Amino acid sequence: MDREPVEIRRVVERARAPFRELYPERVYAMELPHAGVFITGHALRLEALFRHLLDNAIKYSFTDFTVRMAVTPLDGAVRIAVSDDGIGIPAGDLRRVQDAFRRSSNVRGHDAGGLGFGLYLSRRIAERHGESIYLESREGRGTIVRVVLPPSLAPTDAQCL
Ligand SMILES: Nc1ncnc2c1ncn2[C@@H]1O[C@H](COP(=O)(O)OP(=O)(O)O)[C@@H](O)[C@H]1O
Ligand SMILES: [Mg+2]
Repeated sequence: MDREPVEIRRVVERARAPFRELYPERVYAMELPHAGVFITGHALRLEALFRHLLDNAIKYSFTDFTVRMAVTPLDGAVRIAVSDDGIGIPAGDLRRVQDAFRRSSNVRGHDAGGLGFGLYLSRRIAERHGESIYLESREGRGTIVRVVLPPSLAPTDAQCL
């Protein structure tokens, strides 16, 4: 996988764009760093990772609830957190739902369905960046998914083009 300096703000903006278009009534409280914060990664794969997390946050919460995405610089690295106040994941299912084609029992009746592949793919993408995803959830209350991405040296002018 090719890795290059990626401006995190751009990736996050691109990941959320289709959701803003599809669900203009949903509120996206975003905390974004200023332009110029770079991590080392694969821009398209990272965009896919954040799309899966946003997709879940929207799908497993309720129409008038806010979905949040925070991007925080952290000792040179960057921490991204996607959180919702939705149906949550039962404690006993937290590990399992990160495997391929696994879904939690409490999704039944809540949504129109899913393959159970998004979190698995997200974890694999994070792992290819030398990281993982970290799930915290309370059933009936909500979920937060965090990923920390490695820092990048300032890109050269050529890479900015
Ligand atoms: N934000 C969330 N809130 C509640 N449950 C979630 C959330 N994200 C993931 N899950 C649980 O983890 C399972 C796996 O997620 P995912 O791999 O994206 O598959 P899918 O969304 O297609 O079911 C989901 O089916 C659901 O049970
Ligand atoms: Mg999903």
